[in-house]
Amino acid sequence: MYNGGKILLGIFVFLALATYPFYNNIGKANARPEPSTDTPAIQKLAQKKCIEPEAFMKSEHMQLLNQWRDAAVRDGNRIYVAGDGQRYDISLQNTCMKCHSNKKEFCDSCHNYAGVSPYCWDCHLAPKEGK
Ligand code: HEC
Ligand code: HEC
Ligand code: HEC
Repeated sequence: MYNGGKILLGIFVFLALATYPFYNNIGKANARPEPSTDTPAIQKLAQKKCIEPEAFMKSEHMQLLNQWRDAAVRDGNRIYVAGDGQRYDISLQNTCMKCHSNKKEFCDSCHNYAGVSPYCWDCHLAPKEGK
């Protein structure tokens, strides 16, 4: 066969170059955020878990925060009993943000990716972070 090896090599090099931009982008521009739960308060937990199961928190934390606000502000109820019976103070700042004190790497990393910017921090104090 006429120079089959070189042709194959040429095709291979062409494919490698043509698809390089694609492979090179994997894990970069479209990387899903990996919100960090590495905070001092969470390190101290015996069980590294949120107030409700992770899947629930991921999809329902906005509704849960709304319920918390209504419970506290409208009904004066400041204690939340979680699904597992554990009790938590109803407080964005002193409960959620005590564990998730890394707002930038946690809340913000997801929200920037999803293109949402909750206005809560206009009034509620965000945790103090270096920077
Ligand atoms: C006792 C510490 C603690 C408290 C309080 C807490 N969290 Fe969490 N949270 C965690 C830990 C640990 C994880 C990761 C493991 C897990 O989800 O079980 C987590 C996970 C999450 C996740 C899912 C993250 C992901 O990668 O999918 C969200 C969203 C979240 N928390 C929001 C909140 C909000 C909002 C509040 C207050 C209503 C809150 N958390 C209160 C410790 C806490
Ligand atoms: C796993 C990713 C993830 C993490 C971590 C996360 N959020 Fe969210 N959050 C979202 C997404 C996605 C939305 C938009 C959901 C929608 O529009 O239905 C959202 C929406 C919200 C909203 C409603 C905003 C609006 O304008 O509707 C609030 C409030 C909120 N998040 C608070 C928090 C707080 C506080 C934390 C940190 C303790 C946090 N979230 C961590 C993904 C996350
Ligand atoms: C205009 C100012 C303002 C904005 C914006 C705001 N809040 Fe509040 N929020 C308050 C005030 C005032 C209280 C009552 C504080 C109290 O009674 O302890 C409160 C109470 C709460 C409570 C219950 C008590 C506590 O200390 O956490 C939650 C939960 C809460 N807000 C969540 C949110 C979330 C989530 C957002 C964003 C989606 C938000 N708030 C935006 C002013 C605001």
